Amino acid sequence: MSQLASQADLSAEIDAISKEYEAAGALPDFRAETNTRLDYPPYRSSVLRHPTKAPQQADPEGIELWAPVFGQRDVDPLESDLTIQHRGEPIGERMVVTGRVTDGDGRPVRHQLVEIWQANAGGRYIHQRDQHPAAIDPHFTGMGRCLTDADGTYSFTTIKPGPYPWKNHHNAWRPAHIHFSLFGTEFTQRLITQMYFPGDPLFALDPIYQSIVDPAARERLVATYDHDVTTHEWATGYRWDIVLSGSHRTPHEEDVA
Ligand SMILES: [Fe+2]
Repeated sequence: MSQLASQADLSAEIDAISKEYEAAGALPDFRAETNTRLDYPPYRSSVLRHPTKAPQQADPEGIELWAPVFGQRDVDPLESDLTIQHRGEPIGERMVVTGRVTDGDGRPVRHQLVEIWQANAGGRYIHQRDQHPAAIDPHFTGMGRCLTDADGTYSFTTIKPGPYPWKNHHNAWRPAHIHFSLFGTEFTQRLITQMYFPGDPLFALDPIYQSIVDPAARERLVATYDHDVTTHEWATGYRWDIVLSGSHRTPHEEDVA
């Protein structure tokens, strides 16, 4: 097995790519890169698993025959509260994350299935591949879902996830984040992305966050603290809007356009 790179080596790779991107910004034909780079060498596995061939053309109607389906009655409103899925209270900072799903013109995307998954307050997932020595919280699974309302608003009550180590390089830690999936009206429209928390000291060190090379684009993945969402003696509040199209679109993974 090859020796893992140090954080300093990794950060130097990240810096070199951002300098190159910044320099390209001065060129007349520059276009801002607003999505995740599929091939981003500091994120080691991206090199191994990004698509190398053109997307397979599929008949959307054919896919509908075997893709997952759901109806509005399948989603219970209680599934948006990740703190009530077990008999006891989960450990950590209770918080509400809310925002609107809109198109590029600010129109609400209604009755949209929004799914989230996340680590617990200690940065541990309930997953057999996550074996790092942080505690599993018996009262927290870390998965929830809801439908946006008529105004395109979603809302989750959950626990603030902790940062966690991963094996990309030596001493690699992910900034705290929540994974989001938006289902669209068909399975072929599914979008997946991550939401982060303001001021995280791990942003500069994280090759997944940095794989969106445009600083303004990656900042759109960062929620804002909103004291109007915070509730008295109950939960802190964060706001994060998701824009599906246009120049302020929220960056997402696996964009094949
Ligand atoms: Fe994660």
